[in-house]
Amino acid sequence: MNIRGIVLAGGKGTRLGELTKVTNKHLLPVGDVPMVYHPLKKIIGGGIRDILLVSGTEHMGDFVELLGSGKDHGCALTYRVQDEAGGIAQALGLAETFSANHRSLVILGDNIFKAPVTQILQDANKHPDWAWVGLKQVPDPGRYGVAELKGSQVLSIEEKPKNPKSDFAVIGVYIYPADVFQVIKTLKPSGRGELEITDVNSYYLKQGRLGSTVIDGYWTDAGTLDSLQFSNQLVRQDPPVF
Ligand code: DAU
Repeated sequence: MNIRGIVLAGGKGTRLGELTKVTNKHLLPVGDVPMVYHPLKKIIGGGIRDILLVSGTEHMGDFVELLGSGKDHGCALTYRVQDEAGGIAQALGLAETFSANHRSLVILGDNIFKAPVTQILQDANKHPDWAWVGLKQVPDPGRYGVAELKGSQVLSIEEKPKNPKSDFAVIGVYIYPADVFQVIKTLKPSGRGELEITDVNSYYLKQGRLGSTVIDGYWTDAGTLDSLQFSNQLVRQDPPVF
């Protein structure tokens, strides 16, 4: 399949306090493996072998020590350093040379979910020149990117809205055509000083090139103390399918 995998494992991880004082959030345990295994194994389960991992300077060595070339996992890993945590879209922009002539399946390093990526890949394959996002109903949409929906059609996406227009979070699973790198170059930093993935998705939406799939089973991020604990409970009770 002409599609490459990208795991974004940079960022500051400041919401985890002492737990990330000397290590990276994505190296903390979720179930019986480090968090980063989850997005990595999802991508591999989707039949993708060429995978890029993006992380910051501080802990890149730990990722290389943990994952090596990827051969123990049956994949070929490439690494790129994000010098400063300038946002998810900035981290994705670092994949340009890796994925310039391919579509990309991007998974945020702290996203934990039950379902394999096969369904979303199948749906996205119907429109290879569109961007595609995963959606999930959540009790606390204001923490996430939120999709306003009419039936299955996305009408708008807002990042962490005060008054969410629905309870559908845009989860950290995205599929992009190769022109995403041109889109990223047009972005301006948001109020929080980051290049926002929501702005990338909104760009495709305006162009009429954004699709979505509501994923089955549980989904959570694992970036706060509560959600890290919750993700551990979930995967122990009901292991994810890769
Ligand atoms: O989890 C889904 C949510 O992730 C989406 O609903 C939001 O639209 C999206 O903006 C994002 O929200 P957060 O603010 O919770 O993202 P966070 O800053 O926690 O970053 C999530 C992951 O992205 C993190 O585990 C590593 C990666 N990342 C993040 C930043 C800011 C990077 O690789 N580099 C970065 O600079």
